[in-house]
Amino acid sequence: MGGRATRALRLLLLLVLALAAVEYLFGSILDASPLRTYLYTPLYNATQPTLRNVERLAANWPKKIPSNYIEDSEEYSIKNISLSNHTTRASVVHPPSSITETASKLDKNMTIQDGAFAMISPTPLLITKLMDSIKSYVTTEDGVKKAEAVVTLPLCDSMPPDLGPITLNKTELELEWVEKKFPEVEWGGRYSPPNCTARHRVAIIVPYRDRQQHLAIFLNHMHPFLMKQQIEYGIFIVEQEGNKDFNRAKLMNVGFVESQKLVAEGWQCFVFHDIDLLPLDTRNLYSCPRQPRHMSASIDKLHFKLPYEDIFGGVSAMTLEQFTRVNGFSNKYWGWGGEDDDMSYRLKKINYHIARYKMSIARYAMLDHKKSTPNPKRYQLLSQTSKTFQKDGLSTLEYELVQVVQYHLYTHILVNIDERS
Ligand code: BGC
Repeated sequence: MGGRATRALRLLLLLVLALAAVEYLFGSILDASPLRTYLYTPLYNATQPTLRNVERLAANWPKKIPSNYIEDSEEYSIKNISLSNHTTRASVVHPPSSITETASKLDKNMTIQDGAFAMISPTPLLITKLMDSIKSYVTTEDGVKKAEAVVTLPLCDSMPPDLGPITLNKTELELEWVEKKFPEVEWGGRYSPPNCTARHRVAIIVPYRDRQQHLAIFLNHMHPFLMKQQIEYGIFIVEQEGNKDFNRAKLMNVGFVESQKLVAEGWQCFVFHDIDLLPLDTRNLYSCPRQPRHMSASIDKLHFKLPYEDIFGGVSAMTLEQFTRVNGFSNKYWGWGGEDDDMSYRLKKINYHIARYKMSIARYAMLDHKKSTPNPKRYQLLSQTSKTFQKDGLSTLEYELVQVVQYHLYTHILVNIDERS
């Protein structure tokens, strides 16, 4: 009896030991333990983890594309103004090739990762953990990026250091050579100071046609000039398509509207700039004060003398508010002259007065070019300005946008501004 009882007890013990061994050896494929349930379930569905995670990664990538290229999309509307009746024939905003390449390289990486993950069977905890760590890596990197973005740099000095007279290189230059000189300029000809928050966000609007020889000289001079002033800026070259008379003022209206569409946060200040005028003193700040500022008061070819008190031509600066209050420039000045005087009349009508730096600072050199034929109708038009300016300008601006291309040192806006008959 005693011997049977001992055997039975031994058998029971063996059974318990065998069960314990099964649990120990094969426990990982059983789903009984609450601990394992916890380990398997929190992040992903264990039956399809790889696909899900690859999708997640794809959604987080590419991470390197700068936000301005997303912002540069045509989807952004003009801020604070509602104007412009324009059609778009073919508006192309090209991201820089290097950035497109980065994106496609990352896409390729994703495909490789996709394949690699797809080959691994979707069972184990190991994969889930691997995914988990990849996810936390991605999340951490994201977090760092976000943290970087919210770090606000101190405001730049109101008078940046080392400003003063500068020299000008008027010799013909290759654009490619100039491009290599300024790697810190972002595509589209945009820049913001790396070590401080700019006090001014300025769009430089340059009306343009047939001045290829001036373009490289202009960019070579203007980029270092503007960078020194620690402002945030973008250079927009607005080219008139076709061979009708040049309409400088209408091109500047187009530049105002289109440059504003190209950045999500909008520009606060607009400097309307002839391509043949180059500033000779970095104290001539490209910002917009309380009153509209005539910048090019003192030009070498005009013997550094102001031709007349109300002149507003060459280079001038206006805030978004000032420019929209006067309804922008007139669209009616075809050929040389008068459009800047028209703006001067508009400003006077709204009780603005023209501000200027002193003549020793507002100095410019003028590049050589052929003299254009003056517009004989300009005086007649000017006699109407004060009565008609509200019905001629931004409110009546019509144009056909041909294309917008971002190059390294500038954004090129090609436009057809001919009047429809
Ligand atoms: C014209 C302006 C020009 C100025 C200076 C005036 O007669 O109307 O457009 O800027 O001369 O040359």
